[in-house]
Amino acid sequence: MTLTARAVVDLDVAGDTISPHLYGHFAEHLGRCIYGGFWVGEDSDIPNTAGIRQDVVDALKALNIPNLRWPGGCFADEYHWRDGIGPVQERPTMVNSHWGDVVEDNSFGTHEFMLLCEMLGAAPYVNGNVGSGTVQEMSEWVEYLTRADDSPMARLRRANGRDEPWRVPFWGIGNEAWGCGGNMRPEAYADEARRYSTFLRNHGDNTLYRIAAGAPDDDLSWTRALMQAVSCVDCQIKPESPIFQGVSFHYYTHAGAGINTESATEFTQEQFYGTLANAHDIERIISLHEAVMDSYDPERRVGLVCDEWGTWWNVEPGTNPGFLFQQNTVRDALVAGIHFDAFHRHAGRLTMANIAQTVNVLQAMILTDDEGGLILTPTYHVFEMNKNHQGATHVPAMVLDGPTVDVGDKKVPLVSMSASTSGGTALLSLTNGSIEDDLDLRIDLRGVSASVQRARVLSGQSPAAHNSSANPSAVAPVALAVGLVDGVLAVRLPAHAFATIELELGAPSF
Ligand code: AHR
Repeated sequence: MTLTARAVVDLDVAGDTISPHLYGHFAEHLGRCIYGGFWVGEDSDIPNTAGIRQDVVDALKALNIPNLRWPGGCFADEYHWRDGIGPVQERPTMVNSHWGDVVEDNSFGTHEFMLLCEMLGAAPYVNGNVGSGTVQEMSEWVEYLTRADDSPMARLRRANGRDEPWRVPFWGIGNEAWGCGGNMRPEAYADEARRYSTFLRNHGDNTLYRIAAGAPDDDLSWTRALMQAVSCVDCQIKPESPIFQGVSFHYYTHAGAGINTESATEFTQEQFYGTLANAHDIERIISLHEAVMDSYDPERRVGLVCDEWGTWWNVEPGTNPGFLFQQNTVRDALVAGIHFDAFHRHAGRLTMANIAQTVNVLQAMILTDDEGGLILTPTYHVFEMNKNHQGATHVPAMVLDGPTVDVGDKKVPLVSMSASTSGGTALLSLTNGSIEDDLDLRIDLRGVSASVQRARVLSGQSPAAHNSSANPSAVAPVALAVGLVDGVLAVRLPAHAFATIELELGAPSF
């Protein structure tokens, strides 16, 4: 069967700017994300620059990664940054009790992370330790990284070989304070976030964007407590600027039975549609957090940050359950496409989002092996195909009379789309979420004349199709034929597919 739908895109109705940081990444000391993923060490036979795996960096540079969050996650609230500086042989070890209960040798620390960011061209997003750390420890880490003069921490950094301070724009105040970050109550953590923020100084011209750790999913008690703490609604004297600038939440997608319970590659039709239903739920969750934030902060001085998102399946058979290594299929690519469409629509409040995680963990871009093999996942291709949305202007894109599928009592849309314009070009992203039906989509491009520069589609033999060392390009973008007559695009998408259409824009059409 072939489904049909109509859509309209208002190319001349400028919405919010899509922050490049909605395409952010996350790398934790977890399984083989850092060790064996990004970091192989200088003595490795795998080509590297000062220990950082070169092919991983080269592949990621094509995504224009805007920022990289590190060192966790749950690991962040166990991590003591001084253990990861100075001569490598002298660095103490620790136990990574959250992730595999393995011994961490701290060979990848602050200097190595900052080099990685430089190589990627990504802004560092450092996540500090509230759960088992101190205000002084976190404050000194900021000083170590960003201070130029002869302060104690700047001197220590110089003794470790780095003269100039780095720029660190983003700072996380702990992680998941409701759980692994200390099992705190929202109000108690909100006070901690104020206290820590006070001592996270702007040194020189390095201005920090401080991000308070917020809710799991749609738990609004966290957003409410943090907004009360930052906006000071009942105070006579209001702070000139918010004491922290961002409030985060985390949201992981599963097929219906909960995270970490279902296979990445073997799933039923019901689980496929359950996954899409949960992916679409990101929009409801963002809207709820937004509504709370709007009521305290209508001027949008505080940003919403989704600094962990993505699918969370069972680990691949035979791998360490604590390492969260999972395969990545066409289904994961569709989850990414649906998330980005929602992120674009909420770009006025959502200032950052970070996929969990970049290499070898959860919904990764890249899977590596210890022999030097590297695979780009279907999710990687969505990030690459969508990259020109970064920094672009969101424009309205509406699917009219689109088909839906029933999941429980929900009607889940089978077609998802979003669009943006930038410097005389436009980018449309489209998802056909039908497991078996092609989609004939006609899109009325309104307001500006347009011509098609390039159209690409990403799909596979089945929604479970994925890349492997035996077949690394089973799921990769290919050219898509589209027609454009009198401002109406005619697109035929295969089943379970993600597509992008790049347009060159001309004169206003009226
Ligand atoms: O991304 C894996 C883990 O998921 C993170 O460490 C934690 O913040 C979340 O629960």
